[in-house]
Amino acid sequence: MTAALLDSLRAIVGDAHVLTDGDLSAWEQDWRKRERGRALAVVRPASTEQVAAVVKACAAAGVSIVPQGGNTGLVCGSTPDASGRQVVLSTRRMNAVRAIDPANLTITVEAGCVLQSLQEIAEKEGFLFPLSLGAEGSCTIGGNLSTNAGGTQVVRYGNTRELCLGLEVVTAEGEVWSGLTGLRKDNTGYDLRDLFVGAEGTLGIITAATMKLYPLPAVQLTAWAAVPSMEHAVELLGLAHRTLGAGLTGFEVMGRFALSLVAKHFPQQRVPFVTAAAEAADETPWCVLLENSDDESEEHARSRFEKLLEVAFEAGCVSDAVIAENLTQARALWHVRESITLAQVEEGLNVKHDISIPVSRIPEFVRTTDALLAEKIPGVRMVDFGHLGDGNLHYNVQAPEGVDAKAFLAAQEEHINTLVFDAVKAFDGSISAEHGVGSLKQHKLPHYKSPVALKLMRAIKGALDPENRMNPGRVLEA
Ligand code: FAD
Ligand code: MLT
Ligand code: ZN
Repeated sequence: MTAALLDSLRAIVGDAHVLTDGDLSAWEQDWRKRERGRALAVVRPASTEQVAAVVKACAAAGVSIVPQGGNTGLVCGSTPDASGRQVVLSTRRMNAVRAIDPANLTITVEAGCVLQSLQEIAEKEGFLFPLSLGAEGSCTIGGNLSTNAGGTQVVRYGNTRELCLGLEVVTAEGEVWSGLTGLRKDNTGYDLRDLFVGAEGTLGIITAATMKLYPLPAVQLTAWAAVPSMEHAVELLGLAHRTLGAGLTGFEVMGRFALSLVAKHFPQQRVPFVTAAAEAADETPWCVLLENSDDESEEHARSRFEKLLEVAFEAGCVSDAVIAENLTQARALWHVRESITLAQVEEGLNVKHDISIPVSRIPEFVRTTDALLAEKIPGVRMVDFGHLGDGNLHYNVQAPEGVDAKAFLAAQEEHINTLVFDAVKAFDGSISAEHGVGSLKQHKLPHYKSPVALKLMRAIKGALDPENRMNPGRVLEA
């Protein structure tokens, strides 16, 4: 049976694009190296027709499929399980731009297009594609849609879902749903597009998408501010909304320990206001990175930014601040922020969270949950940072200093997750605001979603993928 399936797959995509031997770790291992599975084969189709034929061949053989884009996901959702019975379907060869419609402000691209390429193509045409995240050099638009990725511009432009106007999808039966309309208004029944966005490959395979474009702003300025507390960071966010209006395109918060990890592991980077002296004096517990996009001029943008920071100083919610003088400085500041994930990898395996809480309640959440974790698991180190403008925190937990991280995680991860997720629930939040559920959190979902929501989700899964062939065991338990 396996030999017959492999022959069929080779006939569809060509011998060179059905990988079964050699080092397949790039497809079989997740980005954080938490899990290593084994694939029956890695199949790399080049067109929607080929994807449909692969799905039909796998269905006929009773084999399930794990769709994969850039494999940068953080919840072990894009790699095969250990059975050796799953086919990884990589979209990376499907990276063409199918159309740009300047009047409609849309671009239609294939699912395997790397996010950074999409940003660059849009910019060359004079447009902004505003989705931006640390993995943009290797994640794909299909993966971004399937995880409904957030990133650093959500405060102004929304999540990937809000940027999507249409999809083309290969269903679990191998049919093609062509929904690349590019319409901004369409009330003809259930929203199929929004079912596939955020489905993490469990309902079908996204093969192409029509995405929104925006005019390029005339200027983008970046500022970095030290704030005395999380309460002050939230106050600064309110001031920024009022002063900059739609010009506020980024508002990131970073805890001192998260930044000190960047300084420790990447000493070539300059981290403003995070010094040994500040740490000894317990100053600068938090820093904030703000971005102001302006359609008029640099002068206009700068004067609005300066006014905001002036008011913030007077109100006591900022203790120090710098505005980047030029693009190089702005990029360096963003680079510090984007380096936290890698600095955490260097420091050792950790428990990652991507929770959301109403912005107004974040200070209280952090205070009480920090205290709870310190009491229950003495010595844990909190690596807190994230997209405060969206109420989304990476509330990450690093093993105590000097403790073996792998052993610590094996013993404590479940306990830590329960403590944090119970707190999130008590604050009316979500246990996953960005990275999704994957196979890391699917067993937790039944405890934190209502029975009715779960029943509806299972009904949708059962209707669209009755044989459970699309990324089984992800999002919902198999
Ligand atoms: P993959 O990892 O390949 O897949 C992710 C999921 O989508 C899997 O379940 C997979 O089966 C499914 N999938 C992939 N392609 C398709 C398709 N065409 N059709 C159907 N299903 C598909 N995430 C954020 O939200 N915000 C951030 O700021 C952010 N920053 C990151 C920074 C770093 C350094 C890293 C490593 C990751 C970050 N992520 C972030 C997580 C990750 O980059 C995103 O989830 C991204 O959207 C995944 O894209 P991908 O192409 O790598 O998808
Ligand atoms: C980020 O905001 O940097 C990402 O979501 C990645 C992470 O959580 O480490
Ligand atoms: Zn994030």
